[in-house]
Amino acid sequence: MSSLTPYWLLMPAAGTGSRFGGPIPKQHLPLADATVLEYSLRPFLTDSLCRGVVLAMAEGDERRSALRATLPPSVCFVDGGAERVDSVLAALDALKGLAADEEWVLVHDAVRPCLAASDLKRLLQAGQTSADGALLAAPVADTLKRGGDDGSVASTVPRAGLWRALTPQMFRIGALRRALLLARQGGRVPTDEAEAMEWQGARPLLVAAGQSNIKITTVDDLPLAAAILIARTGGAP
Ligand code: C5P
Repeated sequence: MSSLTPYWLLMPAAGTGSRFGGPIPKQHLPLADATVLEYSLRPFLTDSLCRGVVLAMAEGDERRSALRATLPPSVCFVDGGAERVDSVLAALDALKGLAADEEWVLVHDAVRPCLAASDLKRLLQAGQTSADGALLAAPVADTLKRGGDDGSVASTVPRAGLWRALTPQMFRIGALRRALLLARQGGRVPTDEAEAMEWQGARPLLVAAGQSNIKITTVDDLPLAAAILIARTGGAP
């Protein structure tokens, strides 16, 4: 088997979690024996291929000092921005002078605490062979309906060929920076990093992920995430 490429990890964690409703941003909520964000970081902190971690947090996030105390001192903290793309750009800036444009960077949501080591490995294996990078993704399994203004079904959307984009997403540092900067200069806000790359004509590889890499979006997701983590370790979180 070919050896896996080293990479840098960027984690946008500057969201305010307004969709979640509560006063605490969802990445800081407790889950099993740590926070959602700490679980999202764990696979990378223990991976010898990870050359460094940059964490983008909201300016004035009072949990920053507590995290500094618990995370390895090598983790670099930066201020995030108004949109996710701004947070990722700020994190990329921290790599200037540290990492070459040709090196790989992975971007992983702070609200995906259940990334399996096998999915990370599969992404790296496939991604390092792709000129345009790669992302974990899941084929759409449910039947899709487009809703009409009155709340009824307007149409059924064929699901063949449709995927849900997950993270981590993996790109060459220089190519990602260029794509995100061009998006911002054009006044466009990509939903994920892959979309900004696509706007530049890139075709990132879709790498099928397991079902466990869930995104914490509502309170209902927390017990599910805890159950996944506990099951994975055979009972202990
Ligand atoms: O908004 P959404 O829930 O999709 O956020 C995905 C990730 O992007 C989260 O980890 C969130 O903290 C991060 N984010 C960010 N800066 C923003 C908005 C979101 O780092 N301005």
